[in-house]
Amino acid sequence: MTKTRWYKDAIVYQIYPRSFCDSNGDGIGDIRGIISKLDYLKDLGITCVWLSPCYKSPNDDNGYDISDYRDIMDEFGTLEDWQEMIDGMHARGIKLVMDLVVNHTSDEHEWFKQSRSSKDNPYRDYYIWRPGKGKNGKKPPNNWTSRFTGSAWEYDETTGEYYLHLFSKKQPDLNWDNPKVRQEVADICNYWLEKGVDGFRCDVITYISKEEGLPDGKFNPAIIGDEHFVVGPHFHEYIHELNERAWSKYDTMIVGEAQGITVHNAHDIVDESRGEMDCIFTFEHQTMVDSFLTTVPKKFSLRKWKEVFSNWQALPDTCWNSLYIENHDYSRALPRYGKLEYRKQVAKMLAISIEFLKGTPYIYQGQEIGMTNFDDLKREDYRDIVSIKIYDAVKKYACVFLPLVKWVLNKKARDHARAPMQWSAEKNAGFTTGESWMPLNPNYTEINVAEAEKDPDSILHFYRKLNHFRLGNEIIKNGTYKQYDEKNKKLWIYEREYNGKKYAVVASYTDKEVKFVPPIEWQNKPSKLVIGNYDGQPETLDARTLKPYEAFVYEL
Ligand code: GLC
Ligand code: CA
Repeated sequence: MTKTRWYKDAIVYQIYPRSFCDSNGDGIGDIRGIISKLDYLKDLGITCVWLSPCYKSPNDDNGYDISDYRDIMDEFGTLEDWQEMIDGMHARGIKLVMDLVVNHTSDEHEWFKQSRSSKDNPYRDYYIWRPGKGKNGKKPPNNWTSRFTGSAWEYDETTGEYYLHLFSKKQPDLNWDNPKVRQEVADICNYWLEKGVDGFRCDVITYISKEEGLPDGKFNPAIIGDEHFVVGPHFHEYIHELNERAWSKYDTMIVGEAQGITVHNAHDIVDESRGEMDCIFTFEHQTMVDSFLTTVPKKFSLRKWKEVFSNWQALPDTCWNSLYIENHDYSRALPRYGKLEYRKQVAKMLAISIEFLKGTPYIYQGQEIGMTNFDDLKREDYRDIVSIKIYDAVKKYACVFLPLVKWVLNKKARDHARAPMQWSAEKNAGFTTGESWMPLNPNYTEINVAEAEKDPDSILHFYRKLNHFRLGNEIIKNGTYKQYDEKNKKLWIYEREYNGKKYAVVASYTDKEVKFVPPIEWQNKPSKLVIGNYDGQPETLDARTLKPYEAFVYEL
């Protein structure tokens, strides 16, 4: 079918279901909780939901370890609830994109239970099994490390072989070289597409094809083996095949989580002529400020940040961008890019910076009210398998580093973003009437949706205004992008132009006052203020001193 490419007009909201809204008081967010918030989502001006996994799962990695791809996790509800949810979304003009986690399954998936039971089981080759090395076969088959620390191999007593797991040992990697596995994945996609889902967010999709022979990886301080499976030898072939068998038969958006992809090889995946995926999440801007868990937080550099975004904006028109600053795998954005005493200004400034770019913007639950990190996250607060593994391993083997690790996790743990959504100042932030599955951020008494509704100057009202402004806006969707003063360490200045109309976008990334002079190209032109993050911003664009984190857009 010919794709309408509806995602080019979409604004996506990511829901992490466990922490969004609990409808039955068991302390765990669920589908009926989502249903109760559909009007809220509609009002926010979003047009699509990306739902993190809601399938059956033993929750070793909160649903990213799936034991049944065709059913809903008991704690989240039933398939009937799910149907009601998607119908409710569609009735409100909201599309639904589901998480597709198929680099690995849960070890409790029926396929894996079969696979591990004997070497000649028909499901044996659904996974990647190898004999051990060394004298008595007790050394892992190669030196690859799991993204969640430790070896990527687990020895299994039953058959005396190791299986590969690039994530936790309860997330065995599927063997995509087996044609049956690829057909299963296509069937799963079609199953949900027939039920009406509008696309998939493909989890760690760039890892699916492993190099033949599984050679040892080069040494890299934290992660070994990447070069042998990031966009491996058959990656494009397998994705293209899946696209033909499932994705292209419906009017979908397929967005890949694309570890290891840079602006230089992105078009091989997302160019419309390739028939692979529609867009990807790059990590280039995130890793500059917050490399994934295994290393100490990095200092934010506005120059690099602008450079990365500008490079991606320069992709050819046959490619499409995904624009995000938050998701369930990173701590909250605000503390990374600004000082919290200016919370509202920083949040709005970031929203302007991102939403005026070309691409599909994503808002992660809570971002729209400016949720922040915990001040002091302790061992007993961790729920994420990664925080727990890192902390416990360091405590056991390298105790002297414990204060450092605590400090790092306090800045970077994924737990920060997974704290329950803050709906009101009531008990448990209105997230649950029971006992929450994970601690709430105590600042919910001030930062919450109910409070934001009352405050005309709130981040929430700002997002609503910005989203509604963006929807259907041709300049933002199609315009060219041009950056000015790229060496400036405090300001991001860019323009979007389409059919003779321009948006002049200026965002200050500093808590200091800073002088701004419009570039020559913007001078002596009639201008009109479109949106900004301070009251009383002048109606026309002139040289002036900007306030902390000030941002605005003028139409020229
Ligand atoms: C992706 C998910 C992350 C998960 C991992 C393994 O990176 O976003 O939450 O832990 O894949 O499935
Ligand atoms: Ca519940």
